[in-house]
Amino acid sequence: MIEAQSKESIVRRRYAAGAKQRTEKLCCPVDYESEYLKMIPQEVIDRDYGCGDPSRYLRQDETVLDLGSGTGKICFIAAQIVGPKGKIIGVDMTDEMLEVARRNAPIVAERLGYGNVEFRKGRIQDLALDLDLLDQRLKQKPITDAASFLAADELAEELRVKHPLIATDSVDVVVSNCVLNLVEPKSKQQLFEEIFRVLKKGGRAVICDIVSDEEVPEEMQNDPELWSGCISGAHTEEGFLAAFENAGFYGIQILKRDRNPWRTVQGIEFRSCTIEAFKGKQGACFERNQAVIYGGPFKEVLDDDNHRMERGRRYAVCDKTYNLYKKAPYREFFEFVDPLVDVPLTEAKPFDCSRTSLRHPKETKGQNYNATTEPNNKCCDGGSCY
Ligand SMILES: C[S@@+](CC[C@H](N)C(=O)[O-])C[C@H]1O[C@@H](n2cnc3c(N)ncnc32)[C@H](O)[C@@H]1O
Repeated sequence: MIEAQSKESIVRRRYAAGAKQRTEKLCCPVDYESEYLKMIPQEVIDRDYGCGDPSRYLRQDETVLDLGSGTGKICFIAAQIVGPKGKIIGVDMTDEMLEVARRNAPIVAERLGYGNVEFRKGRIQDLALDLDLLDQRLKQKPITDAASFLAADELAEELRVKHPLIATDSVDVVVSNCVLNLVEPKSKQQLFEEIFRVLKKGGRAVICDIVSDEEVPEEMQNDPELWSGCISGAHTEEGFLAAFENAGFYGIQILKRDRNPWRTVQGIEFRSCTIEAFKGKQGACFERNQAVIYGGPFKEVLDDDNHRMERGRRYAVCDKTYNLYKKAPYREFFEFVDPLVDVPLTEAKPFDCSRTSLRHPKETKGQNYNATTEPNNKCCDGGSCY
C-alpha cells in the first residue's frame, strides 16, 4: 500500500530520473508539428513524456499556463503559436525537469528572436504557492522544531495570498500533457478548482491525459510503477468530463480520443484523450428579449445550466446565455434572434435562468408590431433571386 504523500514522492523521483535520461516506458508516441520542433533542442524533445498535443488548439497572443511542463516541449511549441505578444508559463514540481527547461529557454528564445516562456516551481493542485519563494524563505528560517514547522505553514498561507505563483483570473488557456492523472486522489478536486481559479472569465482548459474505460481497482492504484507510469491514477473517460463539470466549467467536449489504447492492464484499456472546457457561465442573468433557435442535428440538447432545447423552437434566454452561445463551442449550433428594439443592459430586468421557456416572436418584435413590407431583394443571400 502506498500512502498519498509517497505517491507524490514516487512521481517526483521517477520524473527526476526521466529528466536526466529518456525513459521509454513513460513515452506514448505523439506526432507534434515538425515545423515547431525544429526550434527546440534535442535534449528537450528526447525527454518527451506527453500523450497528446494541446498546443494545436492555441491561438496568437494568448497567455498560456502548462501544468506539469516537464522539460518544456509544449511550452516551446506554444511560444511559437502565440507569438511575441503571447506569454507561456510552465509549472512543474520536479527540480530536475525545471533545470532542463530553464536551461533551454534562452536557447529557444534566441532561435525565435523573442523570449516569452518562463518556468515556475509549484504543485499543480496548489497553483497559489510559489515553491521557489518558499524555499528561499525557509533558508532564512529553517524548520527545526514543531513551532517552526507551524510557522512555515503560516508563511506558506501568507505567500499564497500576497505572492501567488499564478494569480486568479490571469490566464487565457490552461494546457496540460499527461500530468493530471499523476495527482494524488485526495487533491484531484482541488486541482480542477485551481484550473478554474486561474483562468480568466471566457478562458478555457485544453487537457491531454490518459483515461481508462473502466474504474481502476485499488490494488492497481497502489502499484507505484503503474501510478507513476501515468496508468493507475487515470480518470475514467466519463469521470474526467464530470470533474470539469463539477468545478463549474461549461461547453466541455472531447476534442480527440485515441481509438487504440496506449496500454491495456488486466483488461482495462488506457488511452489518450484531449478535452476542452470553458470558464464563464457564472454571473447574473438579465432579460433583453433575446431568443435562440437550436438548429439540430439532435432532436434536443441540454446545456450545462440545464436549459433543454428542442430543435427548431425559439427559446427565451438571458443576455449571458445569449452571448455564451454566440461564442465557441456553441456558435455553429444556434440561430440568434435580436429584439427589434434593444433593451440596454443598464435598464434590463433580472431573468429567471432556472427554467427554460419558449419566446413568442411577438416578444422580440413587440406586441404592436404590424408592419407590411415589399419583398426583400436580399432574400437569396446577395439578391440572386431577381
Ligand atoms: C508524464 S510527465 C509530462 C511532462 C510534459 N508535460 C511532457 O509533455 O513531456 C509529468 C510531469 O508532471 C510533473 N508533475 C507530476 N505531478 C505534479 C504535480 N502534482 N505538480 C507539478 N508537477 C507535477 C512531473 O514532474 C513531470 O515533469
